Amino acid sequence: MKRTLNIETISKIGEEVLLKGWVHSIRAHGKIIFIDLRDLTGITQIVFTPKMEEEYYNLVKEIKPEYIVEILGEVLERPDNMKNSEIPTGSIEIKAKSLKILSCAKTMPFPIDTNGYDIGEKTRLEYRYVDLRRERLKRNLKKRFETISLMRQILKEKGFIEIETPILTKSTPEGAREFVVPSRNFKGNFYALAQSPQQYKQLLISAGIEKYFQIARCFRDEDPRGDRQPEFTQLDLEMAFPEGKEEIMNLMEDIYIKVIKEIFPEKHITQIPFPKMTYKEAMEKYGGDKPDMRKDKNDPNELAFWFITDFPMFEWKEEYKRWGAVHHPFTLPQEENPENFKEGLENILAHQFDLVLNGFEIAGGSLRTHDIELLKTCFMVMGHDEKELEEKFKHYFDAFSYGIPPHGGIASGLDRFFAVALNEESIREVIAFPKTGDSKDLMMKSPSKITNEQLKELGLKVEENE
Ligand code: AMO
Repeated sequence: MKRTLNIETISKIGEEVLLKGWVHSIRAHGKIIFIDLRDLTGITQIVFTPKMEEEYYNLVKEIKPEYIVEILGEVLERPDNMKNSEIPTGSIEIKAKSLKILSCAKTMPFPIDTNGYDIGEKTRLEYRYVDLRRERLKRNLKKRFETISLMRQILKEKGFIEIETPILTKSTPEGAREFVVPSRNFKGNFYALAQSPQQYKQLLISAGIEKYFQIARCFRDEDPRGDRQPEFTQLDLEMAFPEGKEEIMNLMEDIYIKVIKEIFPEKHITQIPFPKMTYKEAMEKYGGDKPDMRKDKNDPNELAFWFITDFPMFEWKEEYKRWGAVHHPFTLPQEENPENFKEGLENILAHQFDLVLNGFEIAGGSLRTHDIELLKTCFMVMGHDEKELEEKFKHYFDAFSYGIPPHGGIASGLDRFFAVALNEESIREVIAFPKTGDSKDLMMKSPSKITNEQLKELGLKVEENE
């Protein structure tokens, strides 16, 4: 017999159905035993009475929460006074005829029928597969999926195509610290995990892919925080011939307005079109570059999207005793005459824009420098010499020398967006298998040691900690 889903039972009154799922809860009223059976569509109440075959009635007494079972039974309409309007299947119940245990389950390490905020996060992450049974986390993952599907659809309609770019790539001084992967074939050489598809997407523009996007996984070896993970997901896009940075900002704005309308209809956006504020104004008025512009900070459904524009191009990096890029070195400075760089790097602004949502930076983008000489100048003032450029960015300069249109793009940190939109304090609540604050995967127990054979094969020696 074919399986019936819980939600389908309501249209099958009087019929026999085969249900499969998890035992959500068990209650006994005298000799009558009630089981709430959970599947992907919700919960259905099953009734076991001593009138059923003894074999099955005895078996039901052995069942514990979270056992996975198969139940054959008849769908009955509940008497009016027993109807439960709070669940979609509350008007019916299943009179069980037979029962089969498909999988037993140990006692859960913590309750899963609560929101889970009061449970220690370490335990939740160690048993993440149990934690994810929780309604709240399932809802988060579902909203995530629905949003990403919609984003893909919107961009497809606008003529963008999604292209996957490599994760194993090359170490380049782009900003964040990278994770590196040793090469077995070329001992002593390393790949770097992509910190973003930045260079690849610009190379796709040079290849004539005028409108690119990707739901891209990015890797950065930085200490995770509430809004930061070592691997995270971006909606990354790039386009040739944009009508100024406004076209890129408008595109991102359009995507988020559609997403809120369709996937988060309970939310209201503080102001449309999204207002813009310069970096200078944000710093002077609000003391930071990601001000929380909500009108009412107690309102859980308010979303204040704000663009911050005109960031400085360069900043002094005390750690390295040199200038660096505020966004990344590929950003177009507003001052395009290198002669004028001498007057003070700190005064040069960039065609950079961030999108801020309720005090979180949820996207960053810019127009890119496509003039090779200007690009070289920018790299030089940041302390990179010709030799280093040749080593690290030859592909990039070469590609540009074969022709590169004016272009620009943006990337939105989706985990951060979901955390805000779903009223979660940490992005860990919107990621299926996140890492802890010290970048550990407590469930897989990673990072972990590898065997001496593996080390040898990779040509690596590990220095023991002193
Ligand atoms: P940027 O480095 O600003 O730009 O990143 C874009 C957005 O990604 C999110 N983000 C993160 N989310 C979670 N954990 C992290 N560790 C993390 N780091 C960044 C933020 C941020 O706004 N290639 C450029 C984009 C471009 O110029 O097109 C880039 O990656 O929400």
